[in-house]
Order: sequence, then structure tokens, then C-alpha cells
Amino acid sequence: MPDANAAASTLGAAAAQSGRYFGTAIAANRLGDSTYSTIAGREFNMITAENEMKPDATEPQRGQFNFSSGDQIYNWATQRGMKVRGHTLAWHAQQPSWWGGISGSTLRQAMIDHINGVMGHYKGKLAYWDVVNEAFNEDGSRRNSNLQQTGNDWIEVAFRTARNADPSVKLCYNDYNIENWSYGKTQGVYRMIQDFKSRGVPIDCVGLQTHFTGGSSLPSNFQTTLSSFAALGVDVALTEVDVTNSSTTQYAGLTQACMNVPRCVGITVWGVRDSDSWRSSENPLLFDGGGNKKAAYNSVLNVLNSVGPTSSPTGGTTSASATPSTQPGTAKRIVGAQSGRCVDVPNSSRTNGTRVQLYDCHGQINQQWTLTSSRQLTVYGSMCLDAAGSGNGSAVQIYSCNGQANQQWNVNSNGTISGVQSGRCLDVWGTNNGQQIQIYDCNGQANQRFSLS
Ligand code: G3I
Repeated sequence: MPDANAAASTLGAAAAQSGRYFGTAIAANRLGDSTYSTIAGREFNMITAENEMKPDATEPQRGQFNFSSGDQIYNWATQRGMKVRGHTLAWHAQQPSWWGGISGSTLRQAMIDHINGVMGHYKGKLAYWDVVNEAFNEDGSRRNSNLQQTGNDWIEVAFRTARNADPSVKLCYNDYNIENWSYGKTQGVYRMIQDFKSRGVPIDCVGLQTHFTGGSSLPSNFQTTLSSFAALGVDVALTEVDVTNSSTTQYAGLTQACMNVPRCVGITVWGVRDSDSWRSSENPLLFDGGGNKKAAYNSVLNVLNSVGPTSSPTGGTTSASATPSTQPGTAKRIVGAQSGRCVDVPNSSRTNGTRVQLYDCHGQINQQWTLTSSRQLTVYGSMCLDAAGSGNGSAVQIYSCNGQANQQWNVNSNGTISGVQSGRCLDVWGTNNGQQIQIYDCNGQANQRFSLS
């Protein structure tokens, strides 16, 4: 019997215990390095493309989009049940060279077309987009970029365009040196978000890059910054974390600050090993060049685990009979006892690796599951409910049926549905539309009970 209170052993699973993610930036040209891809595949459950979804990569010539490297990362991540943050659509750096030859309304239109082109390609597929990146000066004024020179409204135009292009993805403003609440730049960004919220400009999240160097280290008011942004009605996330020499106290402190703010949805480190970092000489990441876990790794993992599981059992494990209580055959809904909502494939996606979620029951085919005699739960005929791993917090996704044990499920008499491979139960942290399903040690509580009806 697994210990229901056992600490998770990877960053992603540990963060998932409180409904958060732990991510990394990935470079497409490193995926062939097996040490790199093994660590990344094991530890993280959110992926950001380090450079491959930026404007210079995705639209090298006007109207000619190139998604080959971005898709390589997207596919690698989603095939492993991970989610993806899009980074970034409008930025003063890494612009395609042809943006340098245009200005004014021509550049403004090029930005709009770029957002539509890239977001159209990834429509319905990403969790977040960094719509605008690094648009402020250190004193809180706007950075005088070519985009700024198209008019002060360029940021809100970018966000309105983005919302129309893909209403399903959360739209973020992302910046560095906005971690200290008393800093001018932090206040400038705060005032913009406040203004956007008051005028109904669509914005869902703020990304704090959290690059801590010798000169800008973890501020004591970091949690105040996170909670102050969150109080405006946006999610917050730490999006590009790295710390000079991987100070364990700074890594633990930034992780704890996020855990203490309910709307801090997750943490992303900006690379896997020190040798993969954009500032590799400062050894700022959680794995050394040989792929070994550093002390900072343990300090982060310990903080994530100290938050504890979201569905810890109260009175021991509820026994579950492995005898199917529902006979195989016809398509049924899988309805959560706590939420009354249905297990749903977002946007009727048929892409391998799409994570399933709770959503209002509507009876359409992306909510119709068939229990087969070989204990698969199929959707659309040929795709199966699939556990992306076997540890606590592993994603539950759809994947082409392959007959393996991570696609076999026992529908138990106590209302739980447990994975044959993991022995763990379908589990959901929360009751809202969009809440993702995971597997977790079976405890028989309402967030683990589902009926096939
Ligand atoms: O791929 C080419 C290679 O073919 C060429 O030989 C080489 C010569 O310099 O350049 C290589 O491209 C480099 C690219 O990284 C891939 O390694 C670029 O020169 C280099 O400028 C680029 O740096 C990236 C930087 O953004 C550019 O601004 C870093 O990898 C990336 O980590 C960094 O990420 C940014 C975030 O997007 C925004 N926040 C800050 C963060 C760190 O600077």
C-alpha cells in the first residue's frame, strides 16, 4: 500500500500536489541530448520554448511563418503529458529583421498579423501566452522600442488581438526586475495591469521572470508583489527563474513565496542544467553540467512537498474493490461526484497528450467514454484515457490506444477509477471548468469519485 503522505520525488509531481506546475525552458537543439531530455521529461510538467516561438523564429519573412522548431518542442512536451507556455509574441528583442525596416502603422499591422498568425497555429493548444514581453524601463516608464513608437496603445492592441485569436489561452504580460514591490518598474507594470482591468482590456496573468543576479536578488517583499498583482484579478507565475550560484535560500524563498499566494500558478526555471543556461558561467540552475541534482534542487523540492497533497486522506485509505461496477460497452459520461462536471477533452482535441479536464456536462463526443472489455476508456473510438506517468500528480491525457497498462483502468465499487499500472486513482483538485485530472494515491474522497452514467 503506497503511503498517501509520501513526498513527491520530482518537481512537477511535487508542485502538482497543490495544483501548480513546475516547468523549464527547452531548446529544440538540445532535445537530442539524452541526459537533457531525460531530466526534462522526468522533472517538469510545463514547458516554455526558450527561443523557438519568438517572432524572429516564427515569421522570418513577412507572412511566411515557420513553426518547425516551435512544433518540435510542443510535440515533445505534449507527448509526455506536459503543458506549454507560449513565449513570446511582441517584444523589442529577437524581432525578425524585416520589422527593422518598417515603422508606424505598417509595423503595428505587422504585429497584429504576427499575433494572429502564430496564435492561430497554436489555437486551443497552449496554457498561457506571453503576449507582450519586457515593455517597461527600470523607472516604470515605457521602453522606447519600435513597437512603443507605433503608439502608446500598442500593448492593449496586442492583448485585444490575442484574445480574439485564441479565446482559450491565458494571456500574460511578462517582464524582469518586477519582483521588488517598491521598485519603479514593478509599480509601472502594476499600474498598467490595474488600468487594463479597470477598462476591460483582456489580460489574465503576469509573468515575473525572476532572474536573480548578484545585483538583484530575492527581495524580502516578493510575496507582497505576487499577492498585490494577484489582487488585481490576474494569475501570477514565476516564468524564467535562475539565481546566481543557485543560492539555496533564494531558491527556497522564491518557491515559498509562490506557494503562499493562491493565484501563483507555477514556477518555470530558465533551462535544465547550468551548462544549458543563457548565463552558464553563473551556474544558476537546479542541475549541474553533468545532470546531477544540486542543493538548490532539494531546497525547492522540500518547499513544494511541505505544502502537502491537496487530497490527503483523513481516515486511512478507503478500500476499493477492483471488480468493475460498470459493465463494458456503451459510451458514457464520467461525472465527478464533487463537481458534478464531466471528464472532457479540451476543444475536442485529438492530439496525443492532450490533458483531460472537468467541464460542464454537455454530452458531446469529447465527453463520451467507453469502457472496453480490456479496461480501456476510449474516446472518439481510437483514443484512450492514458496516464502520462505513475507517480502522484501525473497527468491524465488522451493518447492513441496501445494496449499498455497505463491505459487500463479499474472502475471500482467505491466510485473511484484506478490505473492498472499505477494503482493510483483519478483525482481532481478543485471543481471548476478547466480543472485538470491527475492520478493520486486512492483515498476515496469525493474528488476521486466518478460515475459512468
Ligand atoms: O542559434 C544561433 C547560432 O546558430 C549562432 O551561431 C549563435 C551566434 O551567436 O547564435 C545562436 O542564437 C542565439 C540563441 O540564443 C540560441 O542560443 C542568439 O545569438 C542569442 O541571442 C539567443 O539568446 C537568447 C536570448 O533570450 C535572446 O534575447 C537566449 O537563448 C534566451 O535564453 C533568452 O531568453 C530571454 C527571454 O526570452 C526573455 N527574458 C530574458 C531571457 C534571458 O535573456
